[in-house]
Amino acid sequence: MPKFAMTFVCTDCGGESLRWAGQCPHCQAWNTLQEFQVRKAAGGKARQSQAGTGARPVPLTELAGDAAPRRALAWGELNRVLGGGIVPGSLVLVGGEPGVGKSTLLMHAAQQIAAHGGHVLYASGEESPHQVRMRAERLGAMEPGILLFAENDLDAICDAIRSEAPQLAIIDSIQTVTDAGFEGSAGSVTQVRESAARLMRLAKEIGVPIFLVGHVTKDGSIAGPRVLEHIVDTVLYLEGDRRQELRVLRAMKNRFGSAEEIGVFAMGEAGLEEVPDPSSALLSQATTRSPGTAIVAALEGTRPLLIEIQSLVNRNENTMVRRIANGVDVNRLHMLVAVLEKRAGLKLGKSDVFVNVAGGIRITEPAADLGLALSILSNERNVPLPDGMVVIGELGLAGEVRRVGQLERRLMEAARHGLTRALIPAGVKTGRPSGLEVIEVRTLAEAISAAFPSPIESGAFIKEAGISVS
Ligand code: TYD
Ligand code: MG
Repeated sequence: MPKFAMTFVCTDCGGESLRWAGQCPHCQAWNTLQEFQVRKAAGGKARQSQAGTGARPVPLTELAGDAAPRRALAWGELNRVLGGGIVPGSLVLVGGEPGVGKSTLLMHAAQQIAAHGGHVLYASGEESPHQVRMRAERLGAMEPGILLFAENDLDAICDAIRSEAPQLAIIDSIQTVTDAGFEGSAGSVTQVRESAARLMRLAKEIGVPIFLVGHVTKDGSIAGPRVLEHIVDTVLYLEGDRRQELRVLRAMKNRFGSAEEIGVFAMGEAGLEEVPDPSSALLSQATTRSPGTAIVAALEGTRPLLIEIQSLVNRNENTMVRRIANGVDVNRLHMLVAVLEKRAGLKLGKSDVFVNVAGGIRITEPAADLGLALSILSNERNVPLPDGMVVIGELGLAGEVRRVGQLERRLMEAARHGLTRALIPAGVKTGRPSGLEVIEVRTLAEAISAAFPSPIESGAFIKEAGISVS
């Protein structure tokens, strides 16, 4: 008879606490702590450690190398995020909000394996076989090598994975799976964590890669993917605005590759398509020469992306002013607004500031600061930034333009997409692609005079604010 010990786990962040509390001590979320049973081995810890598995320490140099190669999928975008393909015996969590396209993405992956003679076990507890079939038809994934298993019971799923030994097993979703050996309903922290841990052991034991779908949940009644992040090998999040077509698959953790890579996809009538050149897709929607629009070059993983940022500054005398940021961190926006007020004399205290990143993309690095600041200024002054200009640079609190990594790659990407001018931080020795006029700036004020050359547009109001341009 196994014994259970009790802890409490936050369904949002996965943090553990010994006692129940209304608020999670790790992430401060309310009402998210759930009971979690830890199974104790009979006979206690001491005996357990003596028993062991019979393994002995081995010199590093005598270990076998990368025995089983990764299985590359047809989509380069997917392989990149996985670190070069699917690693045998790996446990990969694919998280994301309901409806973002997780099941669609994994059905495409299944199709790509089955089309090359492999077979895939798709365990679906979310949808009926009929629904899964309908999706597969829509995606062109009607392959005999994809075995659908409509099952929630973990024992049955593990048995099927063992007996079928597929090239890939997909569990859609981990929140619908229950292990009969534990209490609690499907989706509780205990069930989700114990099921994932068991699937991890199975994957390692028989070398079958297993992908888990995990829904991000807001209300805390179901344990979200964060509860699993430290159990699995790789965590991928599928992001994107459901109403728009672009989806970004972002690696958050990867034991087999870089955790900074992203893959870009577009959702259409026939499911997802990879987007190997996202800058083109993002820039094709760009509204050039409109006040408030700036193009930035943000680095996502190893790849520079040209992204359009839009700002709208609107006088609002009546109510509390709003700062709304879609695709950038709102705290970063607050900081940039403060820097613009202090260092460029802009008065935004009675204005709403809205910022939007085109295509539903989320920018995670500060190299977009200067572009964002100039886009706010451009909208406030109602003067567009020059045509074909890309703006690169982090902005410090003193209004200084700070250097950013991999400048040359960003410039190359801008040149490749036909942009003609670049504002960059001063003092970086870097190659300059031909056809791109590069303007080095040290401060926000310098950037403003470079971007808005007419004195009315730049110098005049900078003088007004008593800030020297040199
Ligand atoms: P789905 O993969 O079911 O999302 P998740 O598993 O993350 O909950 O996809 C959800 C959305 O994708 C759904 O709202 C409809 C849309 N979709 C398309 O636009 N085209 C398609 O071909 C498919 C299959 C789905
Ligand atoms: Mg789904």
